[in-house]
Amino acid sequence: MNTNFDNLPNRRATESVKWNLYDEDVLPLWVADMDFSAPSAVIQALHERVDHGIFGYAIPLPALVETIVERMEKLYKWKVLPEDICFIPGVVPGFNLVCHALLKPGEEVLIQPPVYPPFLSAGASVRAKHRDAPLTLESDGSYSINFNEFEKTITPQTRLFLLCNPHNPVGRVFRRDELEQMAQICIRHNIPICSDEIHCDLLFSGQQHIPIASLDEEVAQQTITLMAPSKTFNIAGLDFSIAIIQNKDLRKQVMEARGGMVPSVNLLGQVAALAAYRDSQEWLDEVLSYMEINRNILCQYVNEKLPGIKMWQPEGTYLAWLDCRDAAISKNPYEFFLQKARVALNDGEKFGQGGKGFVRVNFGCPRFVLLDALERMRAALVQR
Ligand SMILES: Cc1ncc(COP(=O)(O)O)c(C=O)c1O
Repeated sequence: MNTNFDNLPNRRATESVKWNLYDEDVLPLWVADMDFSAPSAVIQALHERVDHGIFGYAIPLPALVETIVERMEKLYKWKVLPEDICFIPGVVPGFNLVCHALLKPGEEVLIQPPVYPPFLSAGASVRAKHRDAPLTLESDGSYSINFNEFEKTITPQTRLFLLCNPHNPVGRVFRRDELEQMAQICIRHNIPICSDEIHCDLLFSGQQHIPIASLDEEVAQQTITLMAPSKTFNIAGLDFSIAIIQNKDLRKQVMEARGGMVPSVNLLGQVAALAAYRDSQEWLDEVLSYMEINRNILCQYVNEKLPGIKMWQPEGTYLAWLDCRDAAISKNPYEFFLQKARVALNDGEKFGQGGKGFVRVNFGCPRFVLLDALERMRAALVQR
């Protein structure tokens, strides 16, 4: 490995939200960013751009648009045109923008909880509501889709499906047959799909990401795909994301809804994105190998040494979803681990239906930090 991922930079000193929200003695394994420095190509490109000294308004970098077009073709055999690509300052603003453009008050967004909390409030700006088609928890801790229930959940008011793939927090990378069935149902009911694929590069051995829009032309015409280099290369603070919208009318509708409220992207975010996508594949391969070992260690530790707690190995993302319902913790497990173990996780209850009794763990950190957190959690459980 060229990069030493065992090093822990001092992030408290850099106003990191992850490291500053809780007291100094708390280990933060919550919000989804990694404790690793970005790839050196990204840091170098930013230095060079900063040295230029002028930071006026920028056009979309043509080399970046071209790199994204080539990336979609190379990774997914998905042909997109430069004009299909829109830059947006974040994936959450992206799906809220889509809701704003496509929904009217009282209409519904179909989601699959337990899911990333901002999905639950998507469309709030137009007073749209979420409509839940919960994922099914299997006995091994993995999640699947009940397609009958998924279809039955749809009402005449359901006007958008907000998909999360790879899925945060359950760690599923949906298979082609699953994507095809969801897409067919949406087409049958004429429901546009907004697909949050922010975790698409964070896959473990044997997994392949399939953008739902790449299934076929009919699905492409009904889909808005949101991607970003932010999670992948740990540059979330630079506010750069991508919307791919192949349907011209849909694109116009969504982009017009920006209406002076959703700004263009950060210039340095574009520079970082280009260096990330074009020049940082080796770093990505290395960080994924490192995190796969973290995932395996975490899974084994949880299942063998944390009494009453279960975990299934996520297929993608650096997030683990721990089932604490049999751990006989009298209060909310998030509160328990924060108070008794001094470890900050994400509270499962915030992820909607099916999240109660679960916590989410971010394992995108040096291994010694992960092991320290696990030991603290074990001690807290044993000492009760
Ligand atoms: C599924 C998902 N979508 C979106 C985001 C955040 O995206 P952004 O920071 O670009 O708004 C996250 C961050 O954790 C996420 O997990």
